[in-house]
Formats: sequence, structure tokens, C-alpha cells
Amino acid sequence: MPSKNVAIVTCSTRSPRLNPTITQYVYDVLAHNPTFPTQLNNTEDTDPRHITLSILDLAKQNLPLYDETVIPASLPASDPTAHYTKEHAKAWSAVVRQYDGFIFVTPQYNWSIPASLKNALDYLFHEWKGKPAGIVSYGSRGGVKAADHLKDILTGLRMRVVGTAPGLVIKHTGLPVGALSEEEERVDVDEKDLEGWKDAGMEGMMRNLGMELVCELDRE
Ligand SMILES: Cc1cc2nc3c(=O)[nH]c(=O)nc-3n(C[C@H](O)[C@H](O)[C@H](O)COP(=O)(O)O)c2cc1C
Repeated sequence: MPSKNVAIVTCSTRSPRLNPTITQYVYDVLAHNPTFPTQLNNTEDTDPRHITLSILDLAKQNLPLYDETVIPASLPASDPTAHYTKEHAKAWSAVVRQYDGFIFVTPQYNWSIPASLKNALDYLFHEWKGKPAGIVSYGSRGGVKAADHLKDILTGLRMRVVGTAPGLVIKHTGLPVGALSEEEERVDVDEKDLEGWKDAGMEGMMRNLGMELVCELDRE
């Protein structure tokens, strides 16, 4: 049995954006947790207890606003991919099928999730169904409303959402606005925010989220 693949999903697609920086932070916290069975960059690994963590950026999927003619939940559960009518839906289906679990790292937009995330979720059904999911949210108030909405949506997709959901309050980091080149896109988190998250136990919550996800994967 192969090792398990978990995607840490970057959910906002605008430019510039904070999301890639926060996604990398979540990745680093999990990858450096000695009790998390991370297997980095070893494609030969076949131990089912090992987890391969990867970052999956929705901005790189280039999904148009939902335009499928079929209803994803009505497709054959064992092989939905071939049954989509649009090439971009087939491609997205094939990407998501590679993963056994997901950690969605999402900003809060107007008390909910970004449309880019809802759009990407709506394209598929069986590719999400039954898989474990974790949520990390952020925003100037911490993103709790986005996390709550996302939990409902993922539950509707029959995902197994784990209980711990850290919400990062962005107090000091400048929220990115304006035009930046691709190289400049990366926005560094202000040290005061990093300290605040540590003091509030956010890294511990991320590690708990990771272990809850591992437990869910072990149940399969
Ligand atoms: C359209 C929009 C709506 C927003 N709504 C909220 C909100 O409801 N609550 C909040 O705490 N922050 C809100 N923010 C602030 C974002 O959390 C902040 O801009 C963050 O950087 C967005 O993530 P991104 O840069 O990865 O897109 C909003 C930002 C945008 C662009």
C-alpha cells in the first residue's frame, strides 16, 4: 500500500495575495513536527503510515467560473473523470484524485470563503467524498466565519472534517494590495503576527489538526 498524499490547498487566486505565505507557514509547522509522519520528496516510499505533504495552489489550476453541463454527484463514483464534458474539469478531477486528504488554507472574504474555493469545490464530488479535510483560516478578524461556512460545504461534499480549525488573526502584516510582479508576490508575515499566533497556541492547533487528519487516514 502506498504512502498517503495530503494537499495543503492555497485557496485565494488574486494577485498579490497573502495565501501562499500562510500556506507555506502551515506546511513548515507540519513538516517540522517530529510526531507527524511526514515523508518529504521520496517518491519510492510505500509505507502507508507515511504522509507526503504537497502544496496545491488553486491559482495554478486556471479554472473558469463553473461551466460543467453534468452534475458531479451523478457521475460514476469509481471513475468520474472521463465523464466530465470540459477538459479543465477532467484535468481538475485527475489532480484531486491524487490526494487522500486536504488541508484548506483560506482567507475570509466578506464573512465567507473566496469564490475561487467554492468554484473549485463545486466542479467535483466523488473526488472529495469520504476524504479527511482540515481547515486553517485567516483574516483581519481570524476567519472564523469562513471556516464555519467551509465546514458546512465540505460536510455537504461528504468529507470527514476534523475538529481543530486554527484561525489566524492578521494584525500587523500589511494586507497586499496593488500591482506586484510575480517575484514580488510573496508577502512576508510580520514577526509580531508570528509571535501572536505562537502565543495564542495556533502552531499547537495546526499540529493537532495534522494528527487528527493522520488518525482519519489511518481509519481507512
Ligand atoms: C474581497 C475581500 C473581502 C474581505 N473580507 C474580510 C472579512 O470578512 N473578514 C476579515 O477578517 N477579513 C476580510 N478581508 C481581508 C482579508 O482577510 C485579507 O485581505 C487577506 O489578505 C486576504 O487573503 P489573500 O491576500 O490571500 O487574498 C477581505 C479581503 C478581501 C479582498
